[in-house]
Order: sequence, then C-alpha cells, then structure tokens
Amino acid sequence: MILNIGKKAKPVNETHRGRMTRDGIRIHEKADFAGMHKAGELAARILDELAEHVFPGQTTGEIDRMIEEKVDAAGALSATIGYKGYQHASCISVNHVVCHGIPGDKVLKDGDILNIDVTVIVDGWYGDTSRMYVAGKLSRKAERLIQVTHDALFKGIEAVKPGNTFGDIGHAIQTYVESHRMSVVRDFCGHGLGRVFHAPPNVLHYGRTGTGPVLEEGMFFTIEPMVNLGRPETKVLADDWTAVTRDKSLSAQFEHSVGVTADGVEIFTLSPAGKFHPTWG
Ligand code: MF3
Ligand code: CO
Ligand code: CO
Repeated sequence: MILNIGKKAKPVNETHRGRMTRDGIRIHEKADFAGMHKAGELAARILDELAEHVFPGQTTGEIDRMIEEKVDAAGALSATIGYKGYQHASCISVNHVVCHGIPGDKVLKDGDILNIDVTVIVDGWYGDTSRMYVAGKLSRKAERLIQVTHDALFKGIEAVKPGNTFGDIGHAIQTYVESHRMSVVRDFCGHGLGRVFHAPPNVLHYGRTGTGPVLEEGMFFTIEPMVNLGRPETKVLADDWTAVTRDKSLSAQFEHSVGVTADGVEIFTLSPAGKFHPTWG
C-alpha cells in the first residue's frame, strides 16, 4: 500500500470480534486464524498455478485474465477489482516497475522479471501475497536481486513474535538488504489486514529496533519488501498506479500475509505446492 505516515489511521469496521490496540491494530481471536489460512492458501495456490503461464510472448493482461478466472472458479472474490477504481485481479510489475503495475497488452520478453500480486477474499477474510517470476532466462543480476528480496522477507518474518516491535521487522529487512548493497523502497509498505484489505499499522520495511508498536498475539498483517538494485526512490506514472524506480534500476518484491501467535508467527500464504521462488518452480 502507499505509505502515508502522519495520516490519521481510519478506524476499521467496528462490528468485528476481538479488540483493538491504542495504535488501532486489531487483535484477532484464535478462531480467526482458520479464515486467514483459507484465504491465504487460495491466493498462494493461484500463484503456484501461474508459473507455467509466464514465458516470453505472454501478455500481462492474459495472466491477469487467468487469475480472475481462478478466483471465480474457487467461488472467491478479487479484492483489487473495484478497489479505489482499480479494475484488475492482480498487479503485475515488470523489471523497473516497483509495484502496482497494471496488467494489459505488455508482451513479456526473454529475461523479464515480474512480480505478480494477488489478493482474494474468502468468507470475508483477505489473503494477500506476491512472488517473483521470470520470462525465459534469468540473468545473474536479476537472480541475485530476487534471492536477496526473498530472503529479506524471511528475515522480517523471523522477527515476528509477541514482545518484538514493528521496528524490529523493518530493521531486520533493511540491514539484510543493505548488507548486499541493494536498497529498500520507503514509499510503500505492508499493512494490517483481516476482514479488511488495508488496516493499521503501516508495516515499514526499514527502521530501528525497539521502535513502533509492540507485536501482540492475534495481529494479522503483510510484510512485502520492495528492493531495488539501484537507489530507493520511486515515482508514480501518469496512470496514477504504476510505481517505478526513478533511476530505472531493477526492482523485486515478495509478500506474505502473517499472523502473530503466542510464541511466533504463522504464514497464511505459504505455497501449498512448496513453491515460492522462481528457481524452485
Ligand atoms: N495487493 C497490494 C498490496 O499488497 C495492493 C494492490 S491495490 C491495487 O497491498 F488496487 F493496486 F490492486
Ligand atoms: Co499487501
Ligand atoms: Co499484495
């Protein structure tokens, strides 16, 4: 989501069960984890099934059409269709596109890397996840970027447990990425979710340990670091959605939806087929 620090957090739907923290972060009940797992698993299965449809000559619009069909076939809803006027079942962000790439006539060429981001609604619960794919042959530098981005997400996930802070998550991601001389995008962040798409808090992918809200059992949120080979700055194109790196450097992203448990974390959007990385697909 677009980072908007300083904007007052909108209260989310008050009809939900569970309580809310002072920071406006919903604390879900144990029974709610099952709903998130069901939604997350569908989103992850759809990403699994896309691997064979990404190849040179394919269009991003055709991939999106297949996603819409799969969401429909599962009896679920796409969270992105109709969201703030967005009209597609996915965001597909190719090469220097950081996020929110709009699927369309763009034809993939050999060596293109792309993030496909899918959010589904199952029984009212939101499952939001994205991965990287490659059309044709993966270059060494793109492979390095994708590996570091993937591993950075897991450094963040490893920092999720009650008592740690959101700053600990951001710090873990940032230090890992910067140790590889790559940069973390600051202009977009992860977000709380559950029975809503985007809720407090803003989950920053950079920061200092011990800062930010304290993690509590029952919090649900995404971690979705965007990593650039060059500088971190982005700009949004005239279509008002597509975010690109200002220096045109390659960008990658992975996203999981997670829940805080009594002693750590559960990932809702793990691949049912054990796929998560292009080189494993
Ligand atoms: N799935 C994106 C996220 O991770 C949000 C996409 S909103 C859209 O938060 F409207 F661009 F689809
Ligand atoms: Co998200
Ligand atoms: Co997403």
